[in-house]
Amino acid sequence: MKLVIAILPGDGIGPEIVEQGMKAIQAVSHKYNHQVCGSHALVGAAAIDAVGNPYPETTHELCMESDAVFFGAIGDPKYDNDPSAKVRPEQGLLAMRKKLGLYANIRPVTTFPSLLHQSPLRAELIEQADFMCIRELTGGIYFGRPQGRSEDGETAYDTCVYTREEIDRIIRLAYRFAEKRRKKVTVVDKANVLATSRLWRQTAQEIEKEFPGIETEYMFVDNAAMRIIQWPASFDVMVTENMFGDILTDEASVITGSLGMLPSASIGLHTSVFEPIHGSYPQAAGKNIANPLATILSAALMFEYAFNLPEEANLIREAVTASMQAGIVTEDIAEKGKAYHTSEVGDWIAAYIKEK
Ligand code: IPM
Ligand code: MG
Repeated sequence: MKLVIAILPGDGIGPEIVEQGMKAIQAVSHKYNHQVCGSHALVGAAAIDAVGNPYPETTHELCMESDAVFFGAIGDPKYDNDPSAKVRPEQGLLAMRKKLGLYANIRPVTTFPSLLHQSPLRAELIEQADFMCIRELTGGIYFGRPQGRSEDGETAYDTCVYTREEIDRIIRLAYRFAEKRRKKVTVVDKANVLATSRLWRQTAQEIEKEFPGIETEYMFVDNAAMRIIQWPASFDVMVTENMFGDILTDEASVITGSLGMLPSASIGLHTSVFEPIHGSYPQAAGKNIANPLATILSAALMFEYAFNLPEEANLIREAVTASMQAGIVTEDIAEKGKAYHTSEVGDWIAAYIKEK
């Protein structure tokens, strides 16, 4: 099969980790006789520096023409403390999500036995945890208008907007995932306060009736935040709006032991995007110390969701597990022994795939 991939490394550690992901993609493609056609494009601060736009039109065209987008991270500290910056790297990510119609962000939260001791939670709490957070990605307060400041600059406002159609398609997607898993959906909202959340709940209650074989649970977001640390194993598929999903998935990712482990897939109307859920980690950029496993696991999601090649996806996951068992890991998850460099972990995983 021919695999046409748009490669968008972005900022910070993005280029280093994407390079390791590409090694795994090449190795598994070689083994199964697929032909990888990868082209690089600019996004984020790197694109602002080069052409003044965090998501240039040429990058968008490449994404539209590709079968999948492999994405690193964006963000640069030079913009973080400058509230007056006219253009920000994050706008590139939001523009990409909107223009590619990526309405669903799928973040699987799985635990790794060899990392249990790294979790901030006690092993018995985290052991059985295995859930999937489905975050709505192109609506809500991230995109609602109006947004801005009053004329005197003393008042600021954001607007949270959801249409029934936007809610309907993401809730249905959650049920489709639950059907293939442990058959439970948790709808997370703040229906006791927000009008948009009440529309979420009402829409979900209607759709629920079409899936009698699936248990539906409704939970306020504050309670869900608590439950993720108290009883993570109680979740199967969690579905929620854009900003709640942003916050809850950062929380969920660290209970597995390291933020550097969790991959994500963003799917929707056009080409799907695969990226680690952690950010650009600028303090580590260029040092060859960042954990590439979330990115390599995102490559596995790409084989599964974009190319429908589950065997290839599983071989990548097996190689990741083997690297952890062999202790070939970066400093964030290394036990007292030796920590390996980003590139060494990538090389080891590619070699494992080749020899398998
Ligand atoms: C994420 C990130 C982004 C978001 C930022 C970088 C705009 O935190 O993908 O979770 O808030 O969606
Ligand atoms: Mg986030």
